[in-house]
Amino acid sequence: MTIDLRSDTLTRPTDPMRRAMAEAEVGDDVYGEDPTVLELQRRVAEMFGKEDALFTPTGSMANVLAVASLVQPGQEVLCEASAHIARAELGAHGAFTGLTMRTWRDPRGQVDLGAIQEMYAPDMGPFFVRTTAVSVENTHNFAGGTVLPIEDLQALRSWADEVGVGLHLDGARLWNAHVATGVPLTSYGDCVDVLSVCLSKGLGAPVGSLIVGTADTVAEARVRRKRLGGGMRQVGILAAAGLHALDHHVERLADDHAHARLLAEACGVDPATVDTNIVVVPRDDAAAFVDGAREGGVLVAPVGPRVVRLVTHLDISREDADAAAVVLSKL
Ligand SMILES: Cc1ncc(COP(=O)(O)O)c(C=O)c1O
Repeated sequence: MTIDLRSDTLTRPTDPMRRAMAEAEVGDDVYGEDPTVLELQRRVAEMFGKEDALFTPTGSMANVLAVASLVQPGQEVLCEASAHIARAELGAHGAFTGLTMRTWRDPRGQVDLGAIQEMYAPDMGPFFVRTTAVSVENTHNFAGGTVLPIEDLQALRSWADEVGVGLHLDGARLWNAHVATGVPLTSYGDCVDVLSVCLSKGLGAPVGSLIVGTADTVAEARVRRKRLGGGMRQVGILAAAGLHALDHHVERLADDHAHARLLAEACGVDPATVDTNIVVVPRDDAAAFVDGAREGGVLVAPVGPRVVRLVTHLDISREDADAAAVVLSKL
């Protein structure tokens, strides 16, 4: 049997999730008449202490809509150099929103307030690009599922309020940060103007993300979502999977984190550096490591010539983690 640690997006809906999907009450969501979508949006907004939320097909679309709510064409967003919005959304923010980006670099994807303050450009009329938003990612995917301390986000919020800059949080795996730290979801909501969360990563739903913010932000995002071709119809079938995931798959993320630390140890990575469900393994022989793991029935992903990534998730049991650890420790 193969143990697939390439990503937490690989999970398949559980039987109870499929039943919830099959039984979902649905309507036309472009008309605002899908009761299951409305319930998901209401619930997620409330979880973060925000006014409203909007269901989107992907995290990438949620990020595009969220950042566009803060940045006009010809303005800039600042983010960490390996942020998903900068590296892995294929230029969508530049292509659709017409914004530019500048980045600070932190190996653990952390907020570097000093660097942000140095880069920040106020409105200087027709001379320089104006900074109108900062985007942070929690947990940080390419930095290895690292958590951003809430104190850092609060300090960023205070500074952003002083200068009048908007804050976006890419919270595709914010659930993991919440479970790892015990920080309430509303505290994250309080720190930012707009955030995105995913249901289809650690939470195990087949599809779906949400943008969460003020009623005005969400109303504007609803228009932009339609423009991008993201107006969906009887999509309560998918929202039902999300509601099921919120009921059953949040607290269990602690298991994924324990499994990740176990796998880190097997790979010679200090488990204390593993905050959540992602393990980054530096290997000069990344390709050989991936091949060797595959021969042992374990799939892992190269994320560069010298880096391999392992991700634990809903479909990896303790037994799977133990078995994978045996294979990986031999490499
Ligand atoms: C941090 C982060 N943000 C956003 C996304 C985008 O999600 P999607 O693949 O649903 O577009 C991902 C996907 O892996 C991610 O890791």
